[in-house]
Amino acid sequence: MRLEQTAFRDRRFAGHLLSRASFRRFLVSRSAALIIADLAGQLAGYALVLYRSGSRVARIYSIGVDPAFRRRGLARTLLTAAERHAAARHCQTMRLEVRADDPAAIALYKTSGYQMFGRHAGYYGDRDALRYEKPLARKQNRGPRIAP
Ligand SMILES: CC(C)(COP(=O)(O)OP(=O)(O)OC[C@H]1O[C@@H](n2cnc3c(N)ncnc32)[C@H](O)[C@@H]1OP(=O)(O)O)[C@@H](O)C(=O)NCCC(=O)NCCS
Repeated sequence: MRLEQTAFRDRRFAGHLLSRASFRRFLVSRSAALIIADLAGQLAGYALVLYRSGSRVARIYSIGVDPAFRRRGLARTLLTAAERHAAARHCQTMRLEVRADDPAAIALYKTSGYQMFGRHAGYYGDRDALRYEKPLARKQNRGPRIAP
């Protein structure tokens, strides 16, 4: 909760923070993966991925990094870990929504290979959400190699 409050302390995010109850639920849910950045015991960031049964589309529901640890590549590392997790669960696409007034996050997604494919008007009440997606690389597991 402390990380959530620190990472999303900007007033743009007021009223949109995840609650303690939500974190508790996601932590034990089979349709969620909470990935954390642990820097020598310090919780520096997290990414939350959600899955839907029967769907090959995974969703980044939230990603946040403590301001004290920003611009060191942590969010990109969390994003990559989230994509790997989703690929391992046979998902083909990662999707997410981002506030139209969040240039840092938009830059993160764009430079990580995400493409905008839609817009939700008023998704955050006061702001639109931009929808981004990225195809996930298939696992490089081709099975045993058979000698010619
Ligand atoms: C967005 C956020 C997660 C980025 O975390 P971070 O660990 O600082 O990001 P990284 O260091 O991995 O940066 C990866 C890339 O994202 C982009 N980026 C990150 N912060 C940026 C900023 N303030 N301005 C412009 N681009 C930014 C850059 O392209 C950066 O690559 P570069 O450093 O090589 O230029 C962090 O700023 C944050 O927690 N913001 C508040 C919560 C939030 O907006 N979450 C997203 C909700 S969808």
